[in-house]
Amino acid sequence: MQDQKNPDSGDQAQPEGMRKGLTNYGDAGFSLFLRKAFIKGAGYTDSALERPVIGITDTASGYNPCHGNMPQLIEAVQRGVMLAGGLPVKFPTISIGESFAAPTSMYLRNLMSMDTEEMLRAQPMDAVVLIGGCDKTVPAQLMGAASAGLPAIQLITGSMLTGSHRGETVGACTDCRRYWGRYRADEIDDQEIADVNNQLVASVGTCSVMGTASTMACIAEALGMTVPGGASPPAVTADRMRVAERTGEVAVQMAKARLGTDQILTAKAFENAMRVLLAIGGSTNGIVHLTAIAGRAGFEVDLKALDRMGRETPVLVDLKPSGQHYMEHFHAAGGMTTLLRELKPLLHLDALTVTGRTLGEELDRASAPFTQDVIRTRDNPIYPQGGIAVLQGNLAPGGAIIKQSAADPKLMEHVGRAVVFEGLEDLALRIDSDDLDVEAGDVLVLKNIGPKGAPGMPEAGYIPIPRKLARQGVKDIVRISDGRMSGTAFGTIVLHVTPESAIGGPLAHVRSGDRIRLSVANREISLLVSDEELAQRAKDNPVVVPSAQRGYRKLFLSTVMQADKGVDFDFLAAVEMKGIVPRA
Ligand code: FES
Repeated sequence: MQDQKNPDSGDQAQPEGMRKGLTNYGDAGFSLFLRKAFIKGAGYTDSALERPVIGITDTASGYNPCHGNMPQLIEAVQRGVMLAGGLPVKFPTISIGESFAAPTSMYLRNLMSMDTEEMLRAQPMDAVVLIGGCDKTVPAQLMGAASAGLPAIQLITGSMLTGSHRGETVGACTDCRRYWGRYRADEIDDQEIADVNNQLVASVGTCSVMGTASTMACIAEALGMTVPGGASPPAVTADRMRVAERTGEVAVQMAKARLGTDQILTAKAFENAMRVLLAIGGSTNGIVHLTAIAGRAGFEVDLKALDRMGRETPVLVDLKPSGQHYMEHFHAAGGMTTLLRELKPLLHLDALTVTGRTLGEELDRASAPFTQDVIRTRDNPIYPQGGIAVLQGNLAPGGAIIKQSAADPKLMEHVGRAVVFEGLEDLALRIDSDDLDVEAGDVLVLKNIGPKGAPGMPEAGYIPIPRKLARQGVKDIVRISDGRMSGTAFGTIVLHVTPESAIGGPLAHVRSGDRIRLSVANREISLLVSDEELAQRAKDNPVVVPSAQRGYRKLFLSTVMQADKGVDFDFLAAVEMKGIVPRA
């Protein structure tokens, strides 16, 4: 074959398939000859090797039950790729299971994004199917793909089924926290907490509420990075497998059309995704991840503009933790098609999707709407404004956020006395002590759980209600930290305080007994202490910024950015910035 002798013959600028990214032996012809010899050792024919090569990320792991349907998904994707005339090639990348990663999965998100990006660059493929689902995997894959730039399509693993505990529908992980809170308050006994532990996760798949995984699934579809309807089918359903097959087919079309991520991840796509994040009452983590993905695509996120967008975007999806239902109900209600149709006047319908058609064209092709009670209309919302509000003030000069749709309305305008915990160890030591000086109207402050503090910005911002208050029946209390919280959590919880305490942000200098004002109406989070006093405290107690001697921890601590930059590494952001989103 002529191409075997000269792999750069034909389209020299953009080699395809197995000719892409040849290993450098100083002789391109030999490089391809060798590559083909080795892959033929696996039984491939020349005819197979001439097809468009579609890489498939295999993120199966015994430590990641949220990806437990990976073998079936890969089989369906491979079928779709071959039906469309491509050659599927699966390859492994890091997989991160939320509750199996120490110190926190977020510490590893950027590592997974680097793994994904470099494997996409290093290995010959004309397009890639990214299979992810658990919280950090989808953002990591989208970040890596945005940086690598080749045609990429996201396949979501899908949500787990709900379980049933003593006649009540339960699902991870809003109910995990609710039952654990009841156990801490001595409302249920050891037997019941053990019983419910068997029911909370009824199958493989991602958390069944509108937590971070479901939020990122919806964001991926809103960005145009999945096939239409790709966000919502549960993991173990035929619908999910059909989505997988269709994803394989579309990947081949994308490879042929050379439809790169730069054509899909545009300002309009990010604005659509932000609308959806707000309208689903999505996880606060969605802001961090979307900011990081946008940063890779060359866009900076304007948190104040996002807040303005939130004021005119109602929460429409009635899913826990903001509402009542679970992901399987969202899917039965038509999923993203129903939601996007309702949001139409607020969306850029001309944004391109992986299918090569625009969002508007896809909505026009979708099945007819029907009556359901999970996705509301804009004139009958779950919550009149977007689920997430952006706060500012002397306690968070770089911003902080609160998920107002999942908070107690009575606490959203509040002044209280600070009860400070210096870090996670201090919290563990004192939170349940009968001697803790705390009352229901106080404000719990937790320091040193930001990007550098813990490190990795763990989901510890959901500070438990002190046991003595829980026993008194207190269900919510204002809590403030520089950390994150699970998208499945509920409470009046201020998160992502920027700059974080570990690098000397004002949060570092809060003392027990200080007064703090939270006003969601005014988007304010203030420490009622004078600037002079704060400056004196900073002088008296200078902060030592965390560092490490070697390895990934050293890379992490020396390059990680703050929450307002998506907690990405500074050297991974796009070299050329294209603009700010959302645009004013
Ligand atoms: Fe994986 Fe919730 S633990 S999605």
